[in-house]
Amino acid sequence: MALYSEKVMDHFRNPRNVGTLDDADGVGEVGNARCGDIMKIYIKVKDGIIADVKFNTFGCGSAIASSSMATEMIKGKPITEALELTNKAVVEALEGLPAHKLHCSVLAEQAIRAAIKDYYDRNGIAYDKDMFPDFDEDDHGEGEE
Ligand code: FES
Repeated sequence: MALYSEKVMDHFRNPRNVGTLDDADGVGEVGNARCGDIMKIYIKVKDGIIADVKFNTFGCGSAIASSSMATEMIKGKPITEALELTNKAVVEALEGLPAHKLHCSVLAEQAIRAAIKDYYDRNGIAYDKDMFPDFDEDDHGEGEE
């Protein structure tokens, strides 16, 4: 029995949306303190829609596959919909991840949320802080102008 689904292997071997966006409207970077992996997601927003999205993941194969799938799932979607993307939905789309690799998919969910929060912050768009429980202002001195 294969440990990883065909979908995971496909997105790991041929990840979609890899790279950066120089003119990104929002950038989200998150890391997993235990494994040390880092994921960075760039979004371009037009009329409330995620017009483009790229990622750079310095991490394991499951994290790369999760980033690839997650970016595919939010591309062309309204921001509000992207905010609702859960790691569970990413795992389902990947046709499963081993239990000890589920945390890798959480990074994708968090990185997208961080990028959207950055977009809101840059544009002075008001939001309910409860929408971003993962990101405590006091923890992240991003030093942005
Ligand atoms: Fe670190 Fe997968 S082991 S994100």
